[in-house]
Amino acid sequence: MQIVVDLTRCQGYAQCVFLAPEVFQLHGDEALLYTPAVPGDQVERVRQAAAACPVQAILVGEE
Ligand code: F3S
Repeated sequence: MQIVVDLTRCQGYAQCVFLAPEVFQLHGDEALLYTPAVPGDQVERVRQAAAACPVQAILVGEE
């Protein structure tokens, strides 16, 4: 699984950080760091994070 976060959409709601803290980290209000290549054991958490993001900023690609 590959992900891209549209940082122009991200408003720092941090649902992703809460649901998948090993993939998403928030620095400050809007500086979101993330792991683009999601490890297999994090895939389900990332799916939940993508669904939970209020502005649909997390784009999920399957491989
Ligand atoms: Fe941003 Fe959505 Fe996460 S707004 S901080 S990508 S929950």
